[in-house]
Parts: sequence; C-alpha cells; structure tokens
Amino acid sequence: MRSSFILACFILGTVLPSAAAVDYEKDILPILEDRCLDCHGPDKQKSEFRVDQRAVMLVGGDSGLKGIVPGYPGKSHLIELVKTDDEDEIMPPKGDPLTRQQFALLEKWIIEGAVVPGQMNAVAKVTSDLWSLKPVVDMAPVLASGNVGS
Ligand code: HEC
Repeated sequence: MRSSFILACFILGTVLPSAAAVDYEKDILPILEDRCLDCHGPDKQKSEFRVDQRAVMLVGGDSGLKGIVPGYPGKSHLIELVKTDDEDEIMPPKGDPLTRQQFALLEKWIIEGAVVPGQMNAVAKVTSDLWSLKPVVDMAPVLASGNVGS
C-alpha cells in the first residue's frame, strides 16, 4: 500500500505541471525589458547581443560566448555577467545589480530549457562564415531513403 502511494505521488509529481515553473511572459520578460532591452533590443545591440531573440541569446554576441545554454546556467555567459562582482563586466552596467530573486528566476528559466514562446524554432541569421553559425544538415533521412550510392 505504502509503496504504491509513494509511486502515485511520484507519477503525479512528474505529470502535473509544477506550480513553481518559470513563466517567460510573467517572470522573465519583465526583467529583460526593464533592465536589458534598451541596450540589447530592437534599437541598440551592444556587443551584437539582444535579449528579445532567443536565437541570438543562444549564439551570443561579439565575445563568441553562448549567452544562454539551455539546461546549464553555469555555462551561460548571460548568467555570469549578471552575477559577477566585477564592476567593469556586470550587466546591467548602470543602476543596481539584479536581485537574488531575479538571478534565481533566470537560472531556473535556463534549467527549464530557456523557453521563449513562439521562438523555439528560430535560428540566428547566418551572417558570417563561421561554421558554428551554419545550419546543421541532418543526413539521417538521406541515408534512410536508401538512395545513397545507388
Ligand atoms: C546601458 C547599456 C546596457 C544595458 C542596460 C545592458 N547591457 Fe549588456 N552590454 C552592454 C555593453 C556596452 C556590452 C559590451 C561590454 C564589453 O564588450 O565589455 C554588453 C555586453 C553584454 C553581453 C555579452 C555579449 C557578447 O557575447 O559579447 C551580455 C550577455 C549582456 N550584455 C547581457 C545583458 C543583460 C542580460 C542585461 C540586462 C540584465 C544587459 N546586458 C544590460 C550594455 C548594456
């Protein structure tokens, strides 16, 4: 009895959406709009970085470091820059640093896949010859079709 109760809790816990899941529109967008968008949005793109396009955040700006790595806040340059103590590096460069609660929301958002509704299939425009920016060609369907070498 007891073990099936625990099992039921486990299943419910994984199936039901967690009340605490981060919501991009409600939790993340206000931070980005309030603290980042003036310099990294439609008007200005400091360091070629913008926070209103998921694809650009994935690739990163001039530094060549990935702004966000879904699942890995510790590898995401954006997190490093908002949390740093280095006054020359910190984002935003003006005003108060983000609050602990805001770091926590951004980190949780990245852990949960950095979901931006409506932009999950967007790809950054290919503007250079860097191999890393070229679209990935998936060979699997070609091989599976049996036409290779015939
Ligand atoms: C007042 C303008 C301004 C604001 C506001 C601002 N930034 Fe920046 N950001 C810059 C500048 C300037 C650079 C380039 C710094 C350098 O190269 O030393 C930069 C660089 C960056 C980079 C590095 C891009 C790259 O790969 O080269 C990231 C990531 C970043 N900002 C994130 C943010 C985030 C997140 C916010 C909001 C929390 C923010 N910034 C707010 C001006 C701003």
